[in-house]
Amino acid sequence: MNIHESEKAAGILENLGYSETNDEKQADLILFNTCCIRDNAEKKAFGNIGAIKKLKKAKKSLIIVVMGCLAQEKGTVDTIKEKYPYVDIVLGTNNLNMLDKAVTIVFNTKKKQYLIDPNEKPDIIEDERVLRTSYPNAWINITFGCNNFCTYCIVPYVRGRERSRKMEDILKEFENLLKEGYKEITFLGQNVNSYGHDLQDGSTFAKLLEAADKFDGKYRIRFMTSHPKDLTDDVIDIIASSKHICHNIHLPIQAGSNKILKLMNRHYTREHYLEIIEKIKAKIPDCGITTDLMVGFPYEEEEDFQDTMDIVRRVGYSSAFTFIYSIRRGTKAAEMPQIPYEISQDRIMRLIKEQNCMTKQLSKDYENKVFEVLVEDTVEKKPGFVCGRTDSGRLVTFEGDKELIGQFVNVKINRSQSASLFGEIVGNN
Ligand code: 5AD
Ligand code: SF4
Repeated sequence: MNIHESEKAAGILENLGYSETNDEKQADLILFNTCCIRDNAEKKAFGNIGAIKKLKKAKKSLIIVVMGCLAQEKGTVDTIKEKYPYVDIVLGTNNLNMLDKAVTIVFNTKKKQYLIDPNEKPDIIEDERVLRTSYPNAWINITFGCNNFCTYCIVPYVRGRERSRKMEDILKEFENLLKEGYKEITFLGQNVNSYGHDLQDGSTFAKLLEAADKFDGKYRIRFMTSHPKDLTDDVIDIIASSKHICHNIHLPIQAGSNKILKLMNRHYTREHYLEIIEKIKAKIPDCGITTDLMVGFPYEEEEDFQDTMDIVRRVGYSSAFTFIYSIRRGTKAAEMPQIPYEISQDRIMRLIKEQNCMTKQLSKDYENKVFEVLVEDTVEKKPGFVCGRTDSGRLVTFEGDKELIGQFVNVKINRSQSASLFGEIVGNN
């Protein structure tokens, strides 16, 4: 989501005449697109903004912009005014479309711009200019915001209520991307499964997937993120019967204990979640399933943690994002009694070990088999090598040059090393 928003910011800046540089000393403008989902993301953003002070001192005309979730968070503008007064522009999550105006004003008048729109349901802006940076992959927002209010999460406070884009607008963008040659398109939303609920015109996520699957040519569709409470059978059926939708589902469970899931306000039980997993496995046997897991949530006891470990063993995730719960001001969980950090640290180590063991085991199943891979990039640290993903979402590295980027090739997997697979091309598609 953030990468895609950076692409939108880059599109706006390009329109103003800016072009990208990797050398910050060369830059006339530096933009920080920030995240505040956990405390460490917030600290990192402020650390990076702090580190830029000397550049601004050396080059007075340098324009510094801070945008994204952290910018929208209550109190951030005051912190910036007080501790980072050299920041020229602060843009909230609803204000990205004002970037060009704000830059022009600062450029001409040096007058600081703090633009934070508190509206929880701003209108969706169509036809944004996007400077896409990830060919052959492209992202499309299908919803903005979130209505779920998981008790640990700050997203609904900084991104407002859920708004769905009209299906025709999404499909128009989708078709254009295919025409431009993009090969893998990912639908983005905090909860893609509730797509369309607010439109009240009959649009659903299953219908969107079905329509996107109907275009000619060879391409892939992915989506993220799915909320288990809204993942309906028709979505699983569409994935199973489709030509283009990848057999890969990211289905965050967060915790394996019903007590903790209730405290998190997740609206499903471990039993319901496991039922969905069984359905996926029955209908899409080669589906790569990944998840998000959190430890150290308020009231989590060893027994609850063991329920999470049990889920990891039962489901067999190809990989998982693992997090220590991080207290977020203004959320419900921030009011709950917190558990000692050492306990969380111990649990996350054990969880990572368990998941790594599972990942390693599942990777072995790929060895000596041939998979279709979409070549995505060269490997920076390994000249002469490229990487790409299988349909199930596994990263594969193999010999090849950059001309292969954007092509589908058949790769025989020779060996695996935890989540990474290594192989050789045995044919082009
Ligand atoms: N602390 C730790 N992890 C969090 N996530 C969301 N909020 C928090 C928090 N306060 C995790 C969830 C979510 C992922 C994007 O980030 O696992 O699925
Ligand atoms: Fe946060 Fe829950 Fe919404 Fe995901 S579904 S963005 S975890 S509130």
